[in-house]
Amino acid sequence: MKIVIINGSARKGNTLTAIHAFMKGAAEKNEIEIIASDKLKIAPCKGCGVCQCYKGCVDQDDTNPTINKIAAADMILFTTPVYWWGMSAQMKQIIDKCYCRGMQLKEKKIGVIVVGGSPTDNIQYELIRKQFECMASYLSWDVLFQKSYYANGKDELVKNVEAMEELENIGKEIL
Ligand SMILES: Cc1cc2nc3c(=O)[nH]c(=O)nc-3n(C[C@H](O)[C@H](O)[C@H](O)COP(=O)(O)O)c2cc1C
Repeated sequence: MKIVIINGSARKGNTLTAIHAFMKGAAEKNEIEIIASDKLKIAPCKGCGVCQCYKGCVDQDDTNPTINKIAAADMILFTTPVYWWGMSAQMKQIIDKCYCRGMQLKEKKIGVIVVGGSPTDNIQYELIRKQFECMASYLSWDVLFQKSYYANGKDELVKNVEAMEELENIGKEIL
C-alpha cells in the first residue's frame, strides 16, 4: 500500500519514535512517505468555499501538494502529540485543509497514534479518538487502529519496550 504518515509534532520526540517503530514493521511491504507538518507553510482554511470540496485550495502555499499526497495514498497514518487535550494545531491545520478535496478522500484506510504526557486513562485520549471516529464515519474510512501512549520527556517512549513492539507488530500487519 501507499501510506502517508502525517507527523503532527515539531520535535524529534515521542511521535517520531512511534512513527519509526511503526515503519520498522511496515516499510518492507509498503511505500511510505512522512509528511512533516512543521516544515509546511499552510494557511488556515478561510471557508471561502471556492474549492467546493473537490477542486483544491486557492491558497498558493503547501496546501495542494500536501493534500495531493494524502489523496493519492491508500492509507493515512495520523500521528500527534496531545496539546491541550486535543491533537496538535499542525495536525488540525492539515485536516482542516483536507476540506478542499474532502470528497476525494473517501474510503481510505487510516491509523491513529497519539502520545501524551498524561496516563492513557485521561479523557483527552478519548476525545481525540472520538474526533477521528467521527471523521472516519463521515468519509467512510476504515479505521485499522487507534493507539494512545503515555510519554512526556522526548526520549521516553523509546524506553517503553512494550509500546515499541506493539507498534512494530501493527506495522507488520499492514499490507
Ligand atoms: C503545547 C503543549 C501542550 C500540551 N498539552 C498536553 C495535554 O493537554 N495533555 C497531555 O497529556 N500532554 C500535553 N503535552 C505533553 C505532550 O503531549 C507530550 O510531551 C508528548 O510526548 C509530546 O510528543 P512529542 O515528543 O512527539 O512532541 C503538551 C505539550 C505541549 C508542548
